[in-house]
Amino acid sequence: MSLPSFKMRNITIPTPIIQGGMGIGYANFKLAGTVANNGGLGIISSAALDRVVGSRLGRKFKAREACAQEVQDAKELCNGKPIGINIMVATVNQYEDSVLGSMDGGVDVIISGAGLPIKLPAIAETHPRKDEVALVPIVSSARALKILIRKWGKYNRVPDAVVVEGPLAGGHIGWAKKEEALHEKNKLENLVAEVVELADEYNIPVVAAGGIHEYIDIQKYLDLGCVAVQMGTRFLATFESGATQQYKEQLISCKEEDIKLADGIGSPCGLLFRVIKTAPFYQEAINRQRAPRCDKGYVLVNNECDAKTSTNSFCICNGLLSSSLVVTPEKELYTVGARAGELTEIISVEKLMKELTTPPVQVNKIKITQNLSSDSLPM
Ligand SMILES: Cc1cc2nc3c(=O)[nH]c(=O)nc-3n(C[C@H](O)[C@H](O)[C@H](O)COP(=O)(O)O)c2cc1C
Repeated sequence: MSLPSFKMRNITIPTPIIQGGMGIGYANFKLAGTVANNGGLGIISSAALDRVVGSRLGRKFKAREACAQEVQDAKELCNGKPIGINIMVATVNQYEDSVLGSMDGGVDVIISGAGLPIKLPAIAETHPRKDEVALVPIVSSARALKILIRKWGKYNRVPDAVVVEGPLAGGHIGWAKKEEALHEKNKLENLVAEVVELADEYNIPVVAAGGIHEYIDIQKYLDLGCVAVQMGTRFLATFESGATQQYKEQLISCKEEDIKLADGIGSPCGLLFRVIKTAPFYQEAINRQRAPRCDKGYVLVNNECDAKTSTNSFCICNGLLSSSLVVTPEKELYTVGARAGELTEIISVEKLMKELTTPPVQVNKIKITQNLSSDSLPM
């Protein structure tokens, strides 16, 4: 059966697949535009776009201008098809400029998580394109969605869709402690059930994310009441993503046991962050070989970055930037989803989208009637 299209606000996407935002620089204009050309919703990551776009185009960019440029380039690549941007709440200093810059550039969807995007409608409201852009929060519980519905109500805005991200996702996940994250109640199917129940009351379309890899996973979440899925790791392992070649090679050669939810020495955000253990930047951090330093300051908690003064956190901004196409002197840090160990090859977005939208071949039980006459018996 072919997969259905889905709609959020006035935007229709032919295939129910959203390529998740992946920072820094992995979900770039090229990946997002190519996904859109193949029927999905392509999402740019806003994280450190000033540096990513500056390095690509060889001049200085401020955050607002960089977001506008990256969106325009993605839209040009896909002849104006819908394009989204992922803006993390934790990128506090550039949050507002990223929202407004992406709207300047013609973005269709803004997806926002890594914190509760309470201010998103208030910022979008100030832009002339406010009615055209779908605003989509990422949550890890129905409770979080309930808070957002209440807070966004002040601006007469209901989320145009909601992404429910479970504990198997790549990047940061919505829990601070492993026991909590891996508790049965937080399995994606259980989170989806509680969010769908609440979202249905407000006609909010639900998108599932975290550990979704194949057609049968997509079908499973559509059957559970979602309109689409969001996938990161599968798109990271494509020719078009902005990860370095070493990152992609580690991604397709790592095994389940090489992937870890970093705690103890972890992300300065305080949220769990999934890594490939052998990543050179992570090794440097756990062996405390890198002096505390934060010269980027994109991801802040209470205006501070713990990696600036302590070796109890690793500096995700530098680690992730080094693993993108921006050249830096730092070592590489690899974040992946929990199922990355299943990947074996780097493929094109076109091939991936074909695979994801093609039902697996059913092995039909053909009844073989044996002709047991003596003529057909083997000699
Ligand atoms: C390399 C990488 C970077 C990511 N960066 C972000 C990010 O900047 N913001 C965000 O909200 N989610 C981020 N994510 C999460 C993805 O958007 C997506 O929801 C998640 O990867 C889904 O799980 P999957 O990887 O198992 O498909 C990232 C994921 C990966 C793998």
